[in-house]
Amino acid sequence: MVYPSQDLKRRLLQSVDAIQSRIQGFEPHYALILGSGLGHLAEHLEQPLAIPYWEIPNFPVSTVAGHAGNLLFGRLAGRPFVVMQGRFHYYEGYAMEEVTFPVRVMKLLGAKTLIVSNAAGGVNPHFQVGDLMLIRDHINLMPENPLRGPNDPSLGPRFPSMHNAYDATLRQKARSLAEALDIPLKEGVYLALQGPNLETPAEYRMVRILGADAVGMSTVPEVIVANHMGMSVLGFSVITNVFREEAPEPTTHEDVVAVSEKAGKVLGQLLEALIQELPE
Ligand code: HPA
Repeated sequence: MVYPSQDLKRRLLQSVDAIQSRIQGFEPHYALILGSGLGHLAEHLEQPLAIPYWEIPNFPVSTVAGHAGNLLFGRLAGRPFVVMQGRFHYYEGYAMEEVTFPVRVMKLLGAKTLIVSNAAGGVNPHFQVGDLMLIRDHINLMPENPLRGPNDPSLGPRFPSMHNAYDATLRQKARSLAEALDIPLKEGVYLALQGPNLETPAEYRMVRILGADAVGMSTVPEVIVANHMGMSVLGFSVITNVFREEAPEPTTHEDVVAVSEKAGKVLGQLLEALIQELPE
């Protein structure tokens, strides 16, 4: 059987070449993925250059409302960034290799650190709608692993460690800055399901019992691949809805985007302060 990943490296380098021919020597040291309703965080980019996904060879194209679909290049607090304004979800029908392809491209362009954000449902009873959660760790319950198939050792090891998937030093920085800025910051475990339906009450309960604080439909594949490529990762969830055992309420995608847009402003503040503390 021929796996599509056999020529992954060639396709990655094709994308990298095409991008590099448009960014005039710009080398991003940081990558940022903006989740549902968080695309506006890209407004802080200085002199951004936008490349629509469809103009990048081998890139998948985004389909979900609320996801802009651009790769942006520019500086945030003086640091060179590449920003994904909108991500690819497994539930949209993409293969895991496609979902995570842009992460590999961003690493090959020079990004050593990845900052990820998402909208998530809270299952920790101490959480409130609109809370910001620093991701301490994750539980991967997606039905497919992005590293399945032949491994290209020039991209990363066959059996990558996930013991520090969300870098402890970066998390400590985020925590202390949030405290200094008086930004309430929860911390917890993110569990990924494939979606696209939201969870039944029994499923939210299961997520909690399994040891998670929040549940969502993204991020974990990208973080696995970022770790495979040797990147340091920092992750945040905007808690757009909270499962209440005593009174389960429905959630809609519109609610998720609305809360995310609002709470995302606070995340923007924290990110800006944080980025100023990072090496150039
Ligand atoms: N479940 C899964 N994904 C989500 C949720 C949720 O409750 N809220 C935002 N993204």
